Amino acid sequence: MKVIAINGSPRRRWNTAQLCQAALEGAAAAGAETELIHLETMKFKGCMSCYACHSKKKYDTKVCYYKDELTETLNKCIEADAIIIGTPIYYGFATGDVRAFMERLMFPIDTYEVDSEGYRPIKLDRIIPTAMIYTMNASEPFLRGNTALAMNESELRRMFGYSESYYAYDTCQFNNYDLYAANLFNAEHKYERREKQFPIDLENCRQLGARLVEKAKEAQAGTLVRERLRLPEEFLKEMHII
Ligand SMILES: Cc1cc2nc3c(=O)[nH]c(=O)nc-3n(C[C@H](O)[C@H](O)[C@H](O)COP(=O)(O)O)c2cc1C
Repeated sequence: MKVIAINGSPRRRWNTAQLCQAALEGAAAAGAETELIHLETMKFKGCMSCYACHSKKKYDTKVCYYKDELTETLNKCIEADAIIIGTPIYYGFATGDVRAFMERLMFPIDTYEVDSEGYRPIKLDRIIPTAMIYTMNASEPFLRGNTALAMNESELRRMFGYSESYYAYDTCQFNNYDLYAANLFNAEHKYERREKQFPIDLENCRQLGARLVEKAKEAQAGTLVRERLRLPEEFLKEMHII
């Protein structure tokens, strides 16, 4: 049982990395072998639109054809039993690195196919439980209505069969707020968040890691079933599929 966590923050020891590490601790305590990978250490691109993975000749591939420093990580992910993706929120979205990574991870197992009943097949023939861990300055009310993050979860669920998300709000961004032009933030409040809330976030992520291992075991036992999503009726009619 192997669980991989991807840290999508350029900072290797900060909020996102620590929560990824905590999730792996939880997974390890539940019996998994674990690995933390920092995207920041690699030079790579997002999807190059080469469409090799969607060509009829190479349709069987489940890993991106474009080769760069991300390739090894993509191979590891597709062979893993669970995948955790941690990212800070940058302007309302996952970081550019995480977006690029997810394009390369998902497109080769996704398809432009539809069966006669209106369901889209996915090339992955097993469930790999996934989770997103988000860290951000925003508090919970600010994030409400952010459809981009909900979209990440639903696409990961469609692709890998299971996904959940953890949101760590109002994180402490600097060790010493006095050094930065940032009077938008109350430094004392941020230090208090780090002292009181962040340990709770760490524990919640430990539990998330352990839960993913349980989900991976269920997937292996065949008791976790992939939800099949049917394309909307109007679309199927318009495309003359039904
Ligand atoms: C370029 C940039 C953009 C950011 N944009 C947002 C944002 O839109 N919303 C937010 O709540 N926090 C934003 N933040 C703050 C980070 O999401 C937050 O500090 C996060 O916890 C940092 O993660 P790290 O400590 O793992 O690096 C931004 C930070 C940076 C550097």
